[in-house]
Amino acid sequence: MENVTIFNHPLIQHKISLLRDKRTGTNEFRALVEEIATLMGYEALRDLPLEDVKIETPLETCMTPMIAGKKLAVVPILRAGLGMVNGIMALVPSAKIGHIGLYRDEVTHEPHEYYCKLPTPIEQRTIVVTDPMLATGGSAVAAVDFIKQHGGKNIKFMSIIAAPEGLERLHNAHPDVQIYVGHLDRCLNENAYICPGLGDAGDRIFGTK
Ligand code: PRP
Ligand code: URA
Repeated sequence: MENVTIFNHPLIQHKISLLRDKRTGTNEFRALVEEIATLMGYEALRDLPLEDVKIETPLETCMTPMIAGKKLAVVPILRAGLGMVNGIMALVPSAKIGHIGLYRDEVTHEPHEYYCKLPTPIEQRTIVVTDPMLATGGSAVAAVDFIKQHGGKNIKFMSIIAAPEGLERLHNAHPDVQIYVGHLDRCLNENAYICPGLGDAGDRIFGTK
């Protein structure tokens, strides 16, 4: 699938296996989510624009590339997407952060929006939407719809685990969005949870039930 990257890096696979383990506690879980976001972000941000700037080394003055402007926005889908933000900010500390609050209805599994705040001007930024879980794809599609309605154009979506159904739904709805997935799992169960998955990402990151 064009615009879809599924990671098979051993470090990412190893850390995802630790996330899956039900014995992994909140502290370790949170740290792993951040580390995986950094590893995925390193690849997902390889096309950030550069500009040559003048730098004086101890030996001479040279023109050398740096990331152009403050062009990045990280937009986590609340709550669980928050867990990935610091991992990306470690790479690009000057990025702006937006928030999209969505929760899935427990019966219909449809997303409901409860909060949205995006950095402006959003049109000129590369936007990285984060959510560890891409299950039915409803939340991801709604978040990207919303960002586009507000003028966002260059959008990347990062999730740690995806179900085939969600990946296909997001890709079909937004073929222009570059999608990065840590691991593609087998399927959704009758409650629209990813199998084998890791359970409820928000609860495991924030220690709730
Ligand atoms: C989870 C997860 C995604 C969504 C994925 O959030 O973090 O946002 O479900 O499911 P989907 O692809 O079927 O839409 P949840 O609704 O449980 O909210 P939370 O992050 O506040 O726990
Ligand atoms: N949201 C989660 O947190 N986990 C799933 O498996 C599906 C949706």
